[in-house]
Amino acid sequence: MNQAFLYSKYNGLQKNDATFVLKNYFRLVQWKKDGNDAILDIGCGAGDVTNDLLLPFLPKNFGKLVGVDLSEDMVEFARTRYKSSKISFEQMNIEAEDIPVDFEEAFDHVFSFYCLHWIQDQRKALSNILKMLRPGGDMLLTFLASNPIFEIYESLSKSGRWESYMENFKNYVSPYQYSSNPDKELKELLEEVGFQTQVCKVEERIYVYPNAAVLKKSVTAVSPFYNKIPENLQADYLSDYMTEVKRLNLVETKDNNNEQRINVPYKLFIVYASKSL
Ligand SMILES: C[S@@+](CC[C@H](N)C(=O)[O-])C[C@H]1O[C@@H](n2cnc3c(N)ncnc32)[C@H](O)[C@@H]1O
Repeated sequence: MNQAFLYSKYNGLQKNDATFVLKNYFRLVQWKKDGNDAILDIGCGAGDVTNDLLLPFLPKNFGKLVGVDLSEDMVEFARTRYKSSKISFEQMNIEAEDIPVDFEEAFDHVFSFYCLHWIQDQRKALSNILKMLRPGGDMLLTFLASNPIFEIYESLSKSGRWESYMENFKNYVSPYQYSSNPDKELKELLEEVGFQTQVCKVEERIYVYPNAAVLKKSVTAVSPFYNKIPENLQADYLSDYMTEVKRLNLVETKDNNNEQRINVPYKLFIVYASKSL
């Protein structure tokens, strides 16, 4: 099955958090009086969060909404699925040395949902965002500070069996996973890069998977490693993944129900910051 389609079907955690952040923090975004604002969504993935969750919050007279993603497959999927004169999707690496010339000071607002924990060079990504914002523009970001799944990546990558498929696992672990004070660390970086930070906080949240089958589906759709594993070994990989989930005590013990819920506690960054005029 197409990976972008699978992702858009099983990204419940990501959609839940995008909704939470939009409901609680979207009101901070400063819209221009004349409308026509240009908006960028970084790491738009399959485009469903951009189109189904972000778009309904935007003022009706916004100018344009551009979704960008590193993955050409995701961008193609989003382009085919969401056609509108004001929405477009482009391939772009937010960590790249240079940003496209036509993106320089081209946006009034930047949003990014569940992407920046995959960016190891945080300084580069944040300074690229600053360059793409117009003076006075702002950004609302949410991404993982830490999550036990990153620990699972680490332990599976060290078990001889999965090592060769997960060599680059560190690229997919949040740079703040082991930080003792992630919000302070990120706020300092934002200010060094040149942002004025109004909100930089960590929310402690819990996502509940109703049973192991749903968690496994989400791993098949979201894990950056799953597709590298030969098909005949994928079931074993999922089984080892579940062993790690149990080892980390994420499985709820219930007497009256055979279906065991899985509770994943994690830390989510919420950032609202702006570029000076
Ligand atoms: C977990 S998905 C989030 C998708 C969507 N925003 C959501 O909330 O469901 C993260 C996306 O970030 C993209 N991504 C990862 N590294 C990136 C980079 N360096 N530049 C741009 N996009 C990147 C991935 O391709 C992926 O589609």
